[in-house]
Amino acid sequence: MRAPKVRPRGNRSADLSGLADSGAVTELAPVFATDEATALYYEQRAGEYDEWYRGEGLVAARERPGWDRAVEELVALVRGLPPARTVDVACGTGFLSGHLRGVVVGVDQSASMVGLARSCVTGRLVMVGDALKLAVADGSFDRVFTGHFFGHLPPAEQTVFLAEARRVAGQLVVVDSARRPGLPPEQWQERVLNDGSRHLVYKRYLTAAGLAEEIGGQVLLDSEWFVAALVSW
Ligand SMILES: C[S@@+](CC[C@H](N)C(=O)[O-])C[C@H]1O[C@@H](n2cnc3c(N)ncnc32)[C@H](O)[C@@H]1O
Repeated sequence: MRAPKVRPRGNRSADLSGLADSGAVTELAPVFATDEATALYYEQRAGEYDEWYRGEGLVAARERPGWDRAVEELVALVRGLPPARTVDVACGTGFLSGHLRGVVVGVDQSASMVGLARSCVTGRLVMVGDALKLAVADGSFDRVFTGHFFGHLPPAEQTVFLAEARRVAGQLVVVDSARRPGLPPEQWQERVLNDGSRHLVYKRYLTAAGLAEEIGGQVLLDSEWFVAALVSW
C-alpha cells in the first residue's frame, strides 16, 4: 500500500511505511510539543521507553559505541546537580529525574509516562501537564530540568518553553542528544515501536556549544552521545 502524501494526525495505526524516505516528510512543518500524533506516540511508547537507555528490545540491535558509559556519565551529572526545588518538565518515565536531588516534581503530558515516573521514585509528585503551559505559580521552583525535550522543539515551541521556564524558576538545565557524524542536525524520524507500529517524530541533534547558545547559558556536558547546558536568570 502506498504511503499517504501527508502525515495523518493522531492516528496511531496509520501506515507510514516509506514516508520517511519520501519528500513529504521533509516538507512537513516541524512540530513536537503541540502535536497530537507525537503525544500519542509517547503514550504508546511509555512502557518500552527505557529500553532506549538500557539498550534492550529493538534498540539492542543498534550499534552504539560508548553508549553505556555516556549514560553513566549523564546520570552522574544529574546526580551531581546541587539539591534544589526542581520541576522536571517532560520527565518521561523518570529515568533521569530519579537521580535529581532535592524536592522534585515531574510533569509530562503522557499519563502512562507519569504512572511509570511515579513508580520509579516512591513518594515523588508527578503530574500530567503541558510543558508549554505549566500549572504552577511564577517563581515556584529553583530549577527547571528537562531531558530530551528541548532538542525536539522547533523555534516557535522553544520560545514558548524558554519563557515558561523563566517564569517558574531561576535556573534551567537542559539535557539532550549530541550531534553525531552522519546524522542530519534535524529531521522527521520514523520510529518503530515493539508492536511494529510506525510513527514520525521531529528531532534535532545539538552541539553542546549550540545548546548553550540557544538557551543563553553555559555548557555542562559535552559527551559523545549527550549534551547539557545550564542558564541562570
Ligand atoms: C524523548 S521523551 C524524554 C523523556 C525524559 N525527559 C528523558 O530525558 O528521557 C519526551 C517526553 O516529552 C513529553 N512531552 C511531549 N510534549 C509535551 C508537552 N507539551 N508537555 C509535557 N510533556 C510533553 C512526552 O510525553 C515524552 O515523555
